Amino acid sequence: MTDELKKAAALAALAELETLTPDSFIGVGTGSTVNHFIDALASRGVRIRGAVSSSEASSKRLAAHGIPLASLDDAGELPVYIDGADEIDHGFNMIKGGGGALTREKIVAAAARRFVCICDEGKQVATLGRFPLPVEVIPMARIQAAREIVRLTGGEPRWREGFVTDNGNHILDIHGLVITDPPALETALNQIAGIVTNGLFARRGADVLLLATAAGMRRGERPPFPASIQFIPDP
Ligand code: 5RP
Repeated sequence: MTDELKKAAALAALAELETLTPDSFIGVGTGSTVNHFIDALASRGVRIRGAVSSSEASSKRLAAHGIPLASLDDAGELPVYIDGADEIDHGFNMIKGGGGALTREKIVAAAARRFVCICDEGKQVATLGRFPLPVEVIPMARIQAAREIVRLTGGEPRWREGFVTDNGNHILDIHGLVITDPPALETALNQIAGIVTNGLFARRGADVLLLATAAGMRRGERPPFPASIQFIPDP
């Protein structure tokens, strides 16, 4: 069932590409939901110039389908980035990195004008943190960074043993968090020496959510500004 929902979310993402011209590059994330998206891109013959990939795994799959790969340097700013999430809250803040691709995902997402998150309803939560928060660390800093993480968060960082990221680094998964202020925690964790980045996507959350539910697809958009600083037109 979950896989069917992932597939539905991935197919729905094709509609988000309809306004693109055939010379556009798009950003492509990582994971099982994105794998369905890559397959759909190929099987539906969507015309794009190429893709900037967020992982070796996605690059391999894109290449296998004959979809041209581009570097971020060559592609420049991207109109859209399509990716899944491990958790997403109602403000479209996310935890990502279950597949360990968080750093490249964050880089490609940062280059995109629009982040479209595709996931099944099981990923939507009121408060982030039940899914252990992945953090990519430089190998020599792993234990030192873990100590700092405990001090900062009170959570329990566990080494994802045997896993090496595409960048040659290690992953710590922080268990036991209740994340009440995602942008603040994202910023604070990134100040710890040796942390490359963490899997909170709050400073750059999703702009569009395509949520596959048992009752059908739902699409939501995040307002461009927080409600407190919305522009109020003159009367
Ligand atoms: C990989 C990610 C994925 O987007 C996330 O883990 C969701 O994966 P899936 O689509 O397999 O549930 O962040 O680093």
